[in-house]
Amino acid sequence: MGKDVIIACDFNSKAEVLNFLDKFTGRKPYVKIGMELYYAEGPEIVKEIKKRGHKIFLDLKLHDIPNTVKKSMSVLSRLDVDMCNLHASGTIAMMEAAIEGLTRADGTRPLLIAVTQLTSTSEERMKNDLLIDAPLDEVVMHYANNAKIAGLDGVVCSPREAGKVHERCGNEFLTVTPGVRFADGVIGDQVRVMTPADAKAIGSDYIVVGRPITAAEDPVAAYERCVAEFVG
Ligand code: C5P
Repeated sequence: MGKDVIIACDFNSKAEVLNFLDKFTGRKPYVKIGMELYYAEGPEIVKEIKKRGHKIFLDLKLHDIPNTVKKSMSVLSRLDVDMCNLHASGTIAMMEAAIEGLTRADGTRPLLIAVTQLTSTSEERMKNDLLIDAPLDEVVMHYANNAKIAGLDGVVCSPREAGKVHERCGNEFLTVTPGVRFADGVIGDQVRVMTPADAKAIGSDYIVVGRPITAAEDPVAAYERCVAEFVG
C-alpha cells in the first residue's frame, strides 16, 4: 500500500477550500474533507473536488445502528470517495454492516478505517464518563483488533501508536496518523506530535496534515516538504 500525505482541508466554505486547492497546479494532493465542510456545503463539494483530480478521505466518523450505517455508507460509496471512516465503538456488527453498505455492485469499495478512542478522550474521562475501566492504550488496541476482525482496512491513530497497531494487527493493516508537525514548526493545540520523517520511520501509512500546510505562507512548498520527508 503506497504511503501518502493527506491534507486536512479544515475550511468551512467552498470558496475557501477551492481557493486553497487552486494553488496546487502540479501534483493533486489527497485531501481530507471533514464534518465542517461537508455539513456546510453538502455532497456537491465532494464531487467538485473529486472532479478536480484529488483523492478524498471523507472524515464523517459514522456511528449509529448497523442498518443506518450500512445505508449511509452505501450513499457515500456512490460519491466515489477513496477513504471513509466510522467509530469502532459502534461494535463489530456495525463495522461489518458498514463494509456491506460500502461495497459497490462490482465488488470495489473505498478504504474504510476506524476511529478507536478519540485523542481528546483522556483515560480519566473514559473511566468516569464512559465506565470503561481498561487502560486507554489497551482499549485502543482492542478496538483496532475489532476493526480488523470486522474486515476494515485500518485505523486512525497517533503516529506513536502506529508501530503497536502493526504489531497487533499486521503490517497490511493501515495506520492513518494526524498530529504531524515539522521539526521547526508551530505545534498549536496538538500534544503528542511527530515529524513526517519520524512518522515514516515508525511505519505510518498515511499522515494527515492540516495547519502545517493550510496555514503555511507557501502551502505548496510545505506540502512538497511533507511528501519529501514522508514518502521520500
Ligand atoms: O491542523 P492539524 O495538522 O492539527 O490537523 C489535523 C487533522 O487531523 C484535523 O482535521 C483533526 O481534526 C484531525 N485529527 C486529529 N487527531 C485525531 C483525529 C483527527 O488531529 N485524533
